[in-house]
Amino acid sequence: MPPGPRGLPIFGSLLDIRHDTHLSIDRLVKRYGDICLLRFGSVPTVIISDADLLHEAFGKAELADRWVSEIMDTLSGQKDLVLAPYGEHWRQMQRFANRELLSARNVDNVRERHIETVVNDLVERMGEMGVAGELVSPPAMTALSNATLMFRSLFGQPENATDEFLQHRDRLLEYISWIFSSATATNLADYIPWLRFLPNNALKEAALQAKIGGAIIRALVDAARNRPNLDLSSPTCLVEVMLAREEAGEITDVMTCDLCMDLLIAGTDTSAQTVNWFLLLLANRPEIQARVHEEMDRVIGRDAVPTVEDRTRLPYVFACLAESMRYRTIGPLGLPHKASEDTEIGGYRIPSGTQVLGNIYSIHHDPRYWDSPHEFIPERFLPQEDEPMSAALTSQAYLPFGTGHRRCPGRRLAETTVWLHITRMMHRLRFETPDSEPLTEDEVFGLAIAPKPYSLRVTRRW
Ligand code: HEM
Repeated sequence: MPPGPRGLPIFGSLLDIRHDTHLSIDRLVKRYGDICLLRFGSVPTVIISDADLLHEAFGKAELADRWVSEIMDTLSGQKDLVLAPYGEHWRQMQRFANRELLSARNVDNVRERHIETVVNDLVERMGEMGVAGELVSPPAMTALSNATLMFRSLFGQPENATDEFLQHRDRLLEYISWIFSSATATNLADYIPWLRFLPNNALKEAALQAKIGGAIIRALVDAARNRPNLDLSSPTCLVEVMLAREEAGEITDVMTCDLCMDLLIAGTDTSAQTVNWFLLLLANRPEIQARVHEEMDRVIGRDAVPTVEDRTRLPYVFACLAESMRYRTIGPLGLPHKASEDTEIGGYRIPSGTQVLGNIYSIHHDPRYWDSPHEFIPERFLPQEDEPMSAALTSQAYLPFGTGHRRCPGRRLAETTVWLHITRMMHRLRFETPDSEPLTEDEVFGLAIAPKPYSLRVTRRW
């Protein structure tokens, strides 16, 4: 078995990692090595902190199951793409999500129809607040805009949206924010089995919320199915792509509902926090932001708007984004995996049932892979003259979206959404900290790592 601390009776290392989980784990693995074993209560947990070993481990079918908490099990029943065990049911959804649902063609379609409008509205609103002398709060504003754009990408924006449709939308967004705040909190009963015999209000609440959330999704999918003039040969949103595949017998109606929920939960906060970090890091570094503005003016100018095709034309902006996703890794431990059978990694035995975490945070901050890893240096992501992409971007040690079988299928949608946000904002606006003093870059652990709530001064650039 891999080395690791003995920990306390009953609790193991749980108390050591209860605050700033990924940072506490980073400290522990520095002591015990690239593969180490921690005990979270009674749950043996192997942490992999070496890039090559992580690619090897998560490329193995034996390590592609999910470790699922009781609350998440209550919410999803482990039938959905995010939480299903590795097997035929998961593979069918994963193939469909990767090859069809979130393909370049469908992402482009929802970008044109929905995402661009929501992003432009957000930039406009921020500019207006700046003109009115109000501070803007990016975390609050991107939470709303990303929830809106994910909802619209999924269910569209019917021209004559009924009150019922709008009510369903608002209740669904409330449900998603409940999941963000409650379902990710540590539940000690996951790790200390005898606590399961005590009454658990969080689980009761989860069972109730699962029914409510499931019913709303079902009502929205059924409403889409019954839309007048529905033409599934030319879908206007992602749910219509799924309905077309249902008709072709490729997926079931239950999969459609499960995928809708997954995309809303996995796709909203992740993209929003990526934008929040980017803005905070650049507001704290006016000299870097000035260079971004200079590139925007030189390449895009004032008569055009930046688009998704401009990634290679704006190498410095792209480098700032890539570096901000390394420097502040929003999914520092990915999602928990589980060994479905006994297996071996790096010469160590990993018994069936072990929880396995990919330590993306430590790999993104490891001096073996990155010079001055705790500094924000966009230049490391600039391509050399004759290269189309920087070596850092294609390095084994850069893995914000994970690796292997369970790698993020939403990558293309996330990159499109985030890129549009940051380029449209930087094109039109300048962001400054309220007192011209750097704001804290401390991290708040959650479904996606967030900055502490902050506000900025915004000015329109023209
Ligand atoms: C910047 C934004 C995002 C980041 C950094 C990110 C990162 C990740 C990571 C690290 C994982 C876990 C990989 C593993 O288990 O080893 C993951 C899984 C997943 N992500 Fe993302 N993600 C982002 C946005 C999105 C979006 C926009 C969607 C969908 C619309 C999405 C859908 C999913 C799904 C469905 C899974 C589970 C895949 C499975 O279990 O097979 N993600 N993501």
